Amino acid sequence: MLKLAVLVSGGGTNLQAIIDSIADGRITGAKIGTVISNNKNAYALTRAEKAGIPAKCISPKDYKDRPAFEDALLAALTESEADLVVLAGCLVVIPEKIVDRFENRIINIHPSLIPSFCGKDYYGLKVHESVLDRGVKVTGATVHFVDKGTDTGPIILQKAVNVQPGDTPQILQRRVMEEAEWVIMPKAIDLIANGKIKIENGKTVEIQ
Ligand code: GRF
Repeated sequence: MLKLAVLVSGGGTNLQAIIDSIADGRITGAKIGTVISNNKNAYALTRAEKAGIPAKCISPKDYKDRPAFEDALLAALTESEADLVVLAGCLVVIPEKIVDRFENRIINIHPSLIPSFCGKDYYGLKVHESVLDRGVKVTGATVHFVDKGTDTGPIILQKAVNVQPGDTPQILQRRVMEEAEWVIMPKAIDLIANGKIKIENGKTVEIQ
């Protein structure tokens, strides 16, 4: 049974998709051991509590400096005995000490087709604003392993979403979440939980 630690920062719709997918069997062989948010007001914490999942807030505001916060987060993840750390709408930059401790065992959902519209400063609505500003006709979402870069780890799954006339960033974000994020995040977890993911040459992912 793959034990998950899910890191969140906001509304928790990706967390909800994971919870629902475990409940209805779209994900097998995995369970959420803990949910951790850097934001005490994140509705994702409420979603976890409603689902009976242990949840806690580890906020940078509660620590004397950034290293102390990062040490507390690492300690909580280690204590959780997670096999896989899932960044589900998580806005925390994961420090190298955590990436090292959970090498190739951290995955993230990014709301674009990497390598487009990703990297530093590309998160949340800003991604969709840039997509509309550039005028691309197709966007989507990506699930990837987390390495020491920003959105640079091996890509596990992607799903395309059409941009439609009249889209606003908010409308497009919702469509990307509904049609892509909430589909490929659970699917990626199920593939990993069932041993179907293999990283080739440290760069690409083979789905078996
Ligand atoms: C989503 O667009 C996700 O791609 C991004 O954060 C947004 C909110 O996610 N990482 P959630 O509703 O908190 O899961």
